[in-house]
Amino acid sequence: DHAVKDSRVPQEQWGSRIGVVLAVAGSAVGLGNFLRFPGQAAQNGGGAFLLPYFISLLVLGIPLCWAEWTMGRFAGMRGFHSAPGVFSVICRSPKARYLSVFALLIPLVIYMYYIVIEAWCLCYAWNYATGNLMMGRDAAAYESFFDSIVGVKQDGHVFGAGRSLLVFIGITFVANFILIYRGVANGIETFCKFAIPMMVVCALCVLVRVLTLDRASVNEGLGFMWNPQPEALLNPKTWLAASGQIFFSLSVGFGVIINYSSYLTKKDDVVLSGLTASSMNEFFEVCLGGLITLPAAFMFLGAGVASFGTFALGFNALPNVFAQMPAGQLFGFLWFFMLFLAAITSSLSMLQPVIAFLEEGFNLERHASTTFLGILTLGGSFFVIYFSAGLKALDTLDFWVGTLLIFVLAMIQSVIYGWIFGIDEGERQAHIGANMRIPRFVQYMLKFVVPIYLGVIFIFFCYLNAP
Ligand code: PHE
Repeated sequence: DHAVKDSRVPQEQWGSRIGVVLAVAGSAVGLGNFLRFPGQAAQNGGGAFLLPYFISLLVLGIPLCWAEWTMGRFAGMRGFHSAPGVFSVICRSPKARYLSVFALLIPLVIYMYYIVIEAWCLCYAWNYATGNLMMGRDAAAYESFFDSIVGVKQDGHVFGAGRSLLVFIGITFVANFILIYRGVANGIETFCKFAIPMMVVCALCVLVRVLTLDRASVNEGLGFMWNPQPEALLNPKTWLAASGQIFFSLSVGFGVIINYSSYLTKKDDVVLSGLTASSMNEFFEVCLGGLITLPAAFMFLGAGVASFGTFALGFNALPNVFAQMPAGQLFGFLWFFMLFLAAITSSLSMLQPVIAFLEEGFNLERHASTTFLGILTLGGSFFVIYFSAGLKALDTLDFWVGTLLIFVLAMIQSVIYGWIFGIDEGERQAHIGANMRIPRFVQYMLKFVVPIYLGVIFIFFCYLNAP
C-alpha cells in the first residue's frame, strides 16, 4: 500500500556523475574527519585506535557503503526517497517503515549539535579574518577565547554559548536552509562542486605548513598515532568507538547515503562512485585530519590531548600553531574556513533525508518542509546549547547518538540487506550500470560477518557497562 505517488513535489535528480560523487564525499568529509577522528584517536589510545579503525573500514564501512548505494538507487528508481519509503519497498512490507525511525532521528539529532560546532568554525574563521585571534604565543588566551565561545558553568548559571556565537549560529542556519531550499542538484550539488576542491587546496596549504614546523613534536604526534598500544585493544569500547567513527565519518549506516543515492538512475555506476567517495573521505581523514590536528595538538598540549572533548581538540591546539608561523592569520583563516565548508556540506546531508520524508510522507511543498524543519532544528539546537553545560553534554550526545545509535542502525541495515533484500538481488542491483565488480565475498561478508562482528562488540560493550 505504498502507492502514494501523486506527489506535488517535482522529482529530483543529480546533475552529473562527478556531482553526485562530490555530494556524497561532501557529506562524508566533515568535522568528523578533522576534529572527531583526532579526538577519538587521542581518547582511545592513539595507535591502538587505528587497528580497529582500519579493520572497521574494510569489514564494515566499504561493504555497508555499497549496500546503501545499491538499496538507495533501487528504491529511488521505484519512486521512493525517504527512509520509510525506502525501507518498505526494500523489505516489501509497509511495516518496515517503523524500522526507519532511527534513520530519520539520527541525522536530525546529529544536526542539532553538529551545527553548533559548525558555527564555532565560522566564528573562528571570522575572528582570524578580523585579526582578533592573533593573540601571540599565549596558550591560555586561546583557551579562554574557546571557553567564551562554548559557554561554561559560572556561579551556578549555565551559559550554553557565548553571546557572539549566536550571530554565527544564525548565519549557519540560514546558509544551510537556503541551500536545502534550492534542492538536490541546484543547492547541494552546485555547492559541493565548489566547496570540495576549495577544501583540498586550503587543507594542503595548512598541512605543508604544520609538517614543516617542528620536527620533534611532529614526530611525537605521528608516533602517538602510529605506534600501537596493545592494552587498549582489549577494551571493547575501543572497537565500538572505532566502528562508530567509521560510520560517522563515511556517513554510512543512517540513511544519508540511501537518500542521496535514491536520486540516481540505472545508468549510474554505484560501485565505483561509492568507492571513490569513501576513498576521498579516508584521504581527508587519515592524511589531512590525522596529520594536521594530532601533531599540532601534541606540540602544544603534550600528553594533555586526551583531556579535551572529542570536537574541542582542534580549537585548542591549532591557534597556537598559527601563532608561530609567518602569515599565521592567513593560515588560521584558511583552516577554519575550510572546516566550515566541510561542515556545511555534511550538515546539508543530514537535512535532506528529513526533507524527503516531509515531502513524501506529508506531501509538503518545498517552502513548507524547509520552514518546518528550520523551526524544529533551531529549537532543538537551542535546547542543546542552553540546557547543556558546555562540552560535556555535547560529548555525551555524540556518544549515545553519534556512536551507539548509529551502530545499532547499521546492524539493522546489514540484516535488511543480507537477509531480506538478499545478497543475490543486491549483487544484481549493484552491477546495473557498473563498470567495476564487487568481489563476491563482500556479499557474504555483508550477510554473515558484518552482523556478527557488530553483534559481538555490542554484547561485550553492554556486558562491561552493565550496572
Ligand atoms: N560524515 C560527517 C563527518 O565526518 C558527519 C555526518 C554525520 C554526515 C551524519 C552526515 C550525517 O563530519
